[in-house]
Amino acid sequence: MKPVYTRIAGTGRGLPDKILTNQDLEKMVDTTDEWIRSRSGIERRHIAADNETNLDFCELAARNAMQAADVGPKDIDLVIVGTTTPDQVFPNMGCLLQRRLGIHGCAAFSLEAACTGFIYALDIADKFIRTGSAKCALIVGGETLSRMTDWTDRSTCVLFGDGAGAVVLEPAAKPGILSTHLHADGKYADLLFFPSGVSKKPKDFYARRDFIHMKGSEVFKVAVTKLGEIVVEALEANDLPPEKLDWLVPHQANLRIIEATARKLKMPMEKVILTVQDHGNTSTASVPMALDVAVRDGRIQRGQTILLEAFGGGFTWGAALIRY
Ligand code: UT7
Repeated sequence: MKPVYTRIAGTGRGLPDKILTNQDLEKMVDTTDEWIRSRSGIERRHIAADNETNLDFCELAARNAMQAADVGPKDIDLVIVGTTTPDQVFPNMGCLLQRRLGIHGCAAFSLEAACTGFIYALDIADKFIRTGSAKCALIVGGETLSRMTDWTDRSTCVLFGDGAGAVVLEPAAKPGILSTHLHADGKYADLLFFPSGVSKKPKDFYARRDFIHMKGSEVFKVAVTKLGEIVVEALEANDLPPEKLDWLVPHQANLRIIEATARKLKMPMEKVILTVQDHGNTSTASVPMALDVAVRDGRIQRGQTILLEAFGGGFTWGAALIRY
């Protein structure tokens, strides 16, 4: 039997129309455009309107990816949505997205690995396709982090944004996805977290309200180390020297973290896809949205070699090496 590989057949993204600039934030908390730009690289971010939810952006991203791949709802036989901000606990976001798109009967589930969720979902879908369990997978990373942000806390509220990115995956005779690499270490759980879940009973049950907590500079240091390690791991697994990479599509948390990873690879910043300035940190949505931006503006071309990487709460981190 000939080996089966996975290829990206189409990409898409969905963003709220509403944009919050650094200047807007200067009026909300004690911060400056200069501080936000110099520390994070962020200039603006998209924020969901009151009547919008994560599912709206996931649906838009999915429709765009399906159109790009030229597939319809009947073709899709696996749906995975990476998210930490589901519209509801259940039905899971995969099922809610199925209903929006008119997809019936195939496996559909949500996956929670914080900012690395999309890479985790890509890894799982790749295995479904290579083993013949799926022929057309819809993979989405979507977040509305604005709903878990404390808008009075300047150390976090300037960083996050909302949106969703999607890819459609299909079998192919040649890779495609060359390799995926997933890691996690729960010992870092207290550095970046959203405290409330359903099962933990809060003291004031009827006033449950929580926000993202982050020890920024400590997260920063681990992120730089782990991302530096994982990009090398992905290249070594494929015996690929860094100069053979056409593009790095990194998680868009902080420009300085991205620059550190590029330096590790000795890659010029011209070969790095950057959306952090426009999108902020959108967690699991950041990599597929950045990929879609560069595919649609023509920078990423078929046949090119691309390294995706992400790092987030957990901590989780991962990478995928792809021939687009
Ligand atoms: O998505 C995956 C996980 N997340 C990340 O990877 C994010 C990782 N961390 C970061 O990106 C950076 O640590 C931040 C952008 C969050 C912060 O940058 P930093 O250079 O690590 O700054 P810091 O937290 O050490 O804070 C430096 C100073 C502090 O003042 P003092 O104590 O030095 O007087 C903060 O109070 O900056 C102050 N500060 C601010 N000042 C103006 C913190 N937030 C702000 C703000 N505006 N918004």
